[in-house]
Amino acid sequence: MRTTALSAALIVALGGSVACGGDDAEPAGAGTDAGADAATTDAATTDGGGDDATTSDDTGDDTGDDTGDDTGDDTASDVADDAATADADAASDVTPDAPPLPSEFSMTEEDFRCITDYEAVRGFFIGNELGRLDEAIAAAEADFAVDVPPGTVIQLIPQEAMVKGLPGSSPETDDWEFFILNPTEDGTVITDRGFTEISNVAGTCWGCHVGATERDGVCEQTGLCADAALPRTIVDSLVASDARCGGE
Ligand code: HEC
Repeated sequence: MRTTALSAALIVALGGSVACGGDDAEPAGAGTDAGADAATTDAATTDGGGDDATTSDDTGDDTGDDTGDDTGDDTASDVADDAATADADAASDVTPDAPPLPSEFSMTEEDFRCITDYEAVRGFFIGNELGRLDEAIAAAEADFAVDVPPGTVIQLIPQEAMVKGLPGSSPETDDWEFFILNPTEDGTVITDRGFTEISNVAGTCWGCHVGATERDGVCEQTGLCADAALPRTIVDSLVASDARCGGE
């Protein structure tokens, strides 16, 4: 009874031989979402038009000077550069206004929330228990080119979660802890939690997510993890039926 919906969904997914990402599955490598950022930057750079010659000259000669000089007249490529720099800054592991890390951190049943109370990024939900939500979202928006900060909670469906522990808390899983959850109207019940040993009917969590270590263990539809995932329609219906979201 506890995980009936999840089990049924997974069985459907496995029985239906659904590839990771469904029909849209892209080949590994080509499928990374980094493409979107690259495309944006490329487009902006190309739009620089007349400045292109200057830009390429400058790159060799006086990059340092340009950084200061260009501040006043932002070409399209400057804007793209600035945006990229801002992203990197926001996503770095130093968040000026973040509270200091506690000496211990362990996600509790009370910490988990209605899944849609977390921030939606692309197809998943992300939160942070240690005052580092902006940093977590920045990492997600940078396609996890930088790691998420400690305390980050990521969920695709209400019945599973991955939570980033303190640095060094689980070196073998890049500090990710995996959870099987039973969301009820009275709150969240943690059915199982742990590291490399935690599994669903498709295998161990880390056995698949380890494939995505280059993006901090977050699979999405990159093809980096094993080819088994829930069809989006089932993900959506599981999210919509989260028993914790009914009240208030
Ligand atoms: C058979 C491989 C496989 C197993 C086993 C697996 N996952 Fe995943 N997981 C995936 C794939 C692929 C996605 C991306 C699905 C999508 O975006 O449609 C994913 C997505 C997720 C996400 C959303 C963030 C992301 O990585 O895209 C979370 C959270 C998650 N899984 C947790 C777990 C937990 C917890 C377990 C173990 C109980 C688990 N997974 C087991 C392959 C797997």
